Amino acid sequence: MKALKSLLISGREVLPLIEGGKGVAVSTCKTAGAWAAENAVGTISGVLPDVVDENGEVIPMNIKSKTRRERFEEQIRHSIEGIVSQAKIAHEIASGKGRIHINVLWEQGGAQQIITEALAGAKGLIDGVTCGAGMPYKLAEIASSFKTFYYPIVSSGRAFKALWARAYKSYADFLGGVVFEDPWKAGGHIGLSNSDDPNVPQNPYERIVELRRSMASVGLENTPIIIAGGVWYLREFQDFIDNPEIGPTAFQFGTRPLLTRESPVAKTWQKALLALKKSEIALQRFSPTGFMSSAIKNRFLTDLFDRSATAMPYKDEPEGNFQIPLTVGANKVYITAADQERANGYIGAGRTVPQRTNDGQIVFITPKDQETIQKNRANCLGCISHCLFSGFCQTAENLSTGKTPDPRYFCISDTLCKAAHGAPAEDELIFVGDNATRFSTDPLFKDGYLPTVKEFIARLLTGD
Ligand SMILES: Cc1cc2nc3c(=O)[nH]c(=O)nc-3n(C[C@H](O)[C@H](O)[C@H](O)COP(=O)(O)O)c2cc1C
Ligand code: SF4
Repeated sequence: MKALKSLLISGREVLPLIEGGKGVAVSTCKTAGAWAAENAVGTISGVLPDVVDENGEVIPMNIKSKTRRERFEEQIRHSIEGIVSQAKIAHEIASGKGRIHINVLWEQGGAQQIITEALAGAKGLIDGVTCGAGMPYKLAEIASSFKTFYYPIVSSGRAFKALWARAYKSYADFLGGVVFEDPWKAGGHIGLSNSDDPNVPQNPYERIVELRRSMASVGLENTPIIIAGGVWYLREFQDFIDNPEIGPTAFQFGTRPLLTRESPVAKTWQKALLALKKSEIALQRFSPTGFMSSAIKNRFLTDLFDRSATAMPYKDEPEGNFQIPLTVGANKVYITAADQERANGYIGAGRTVPQRTNDGQIVFITPKDQETIQKNRANCLGCISHCLFSGFCQTAENLSTGKTPDPRYFCISDTLCKAAHGAPAEDELIFVGDNATRFSTDPLFKDGYLPTVKEFIARLLTGD
């Protein structure tokens, strides 16, 4: 294994090893502080982060506001307070070593305000901001105004070029690096574009070289590219290290450090990871953000697949083949005779509640699902800027997209918060990367052993 050289990241020479930001509440002050203490880069997730007390203990989120607007504003204040409180703890754990970054989703509700006020409130404690899920044009201006480095997450040279041309070229000084996230391999939301086939992975090497060419063409030949997605044993990435075609590079890890002692994931989550099979990881489109994501195909996801499979077209009035009446809420709709048997089958199996989707279809859900959906919509915090599940839209005066809320999606804040705070892993959304099947054969986790972040990083440096 080639020796890894330290690299200038966010103003300090550190190990080129980066903890991927993981929301909700999976990468925290405790994990980030531990990574930084090893002279690497730790990342606090700024996606609905927990507010912590001076010992780093979680103060449970308790959003009290009654109206959607007030809850949205309270969520933003909570997120700012969460980041600031965690930045202090991470800084203490790091004891002056490494770097502390935060990670924010660009399409998170209130993202710009959250980044701005968190950087103002945690002056000197946050060294960099990574930001993906969308095109974070304004990130450059916000981070630069606090003399803080920024790191867009992209999956292609083309995306970087667009960011550069429209915004980043005016804020080049604080562009700390560009995170290349392999959209076929990474955990969490992924950046597959419409022209990428989810079933036909492309070679990351070529895409990274293309990104470097795009960067070099605007004078960024020495700005680090941070490789994320599918990085497990570094020995498998030797060709990417000290390679003039790629230039300065660091590696980001999301899935593998889920099983470290500092990582807060629940016992049921750990157990699921240690036994995962390939068929149990799914790239799918159920996230209410509209982005694809990679997660465990557990009971939670399987139910969403099943729910989607019940979709059928309908008409509000009898028309052509649509002559069979069906009651949806207080109204009647009309389906085709060809779909009637299917509809009866769903109803007979307990999916007695037909609901409209946002693309002119109906799906069949159970009364229990309906209750959960109604509760989640009623409690919506506006955690994402445009929500396909509830129709929340942060820029509309009435906070609504005006489109039919679609029951094929789900409330991501509800499930991720529950997962992070101990709910059974079968029943919540559990993000993992494609490589998660490797836990079962990785000697580092033999017999369920949980390494500390210190041990984890020491192992990474050996190439294993
Ligand atoms: C549980 C989990 C949650 C994640 N949450 C986020 C997130 O909130 N924001 C983000 O930019 N990336 C998120 N990611 C992606 C990671 O930061 C990282 O880039 C990715 O996991 C790297 O690929 P790997 O999983 O193959 O290591 C998440 C990944 C996982 C596994
Ligand atoms: S319904 Fe849930 S996922 Fe959608 S914006 Fe509201 S809190 Fe977020």
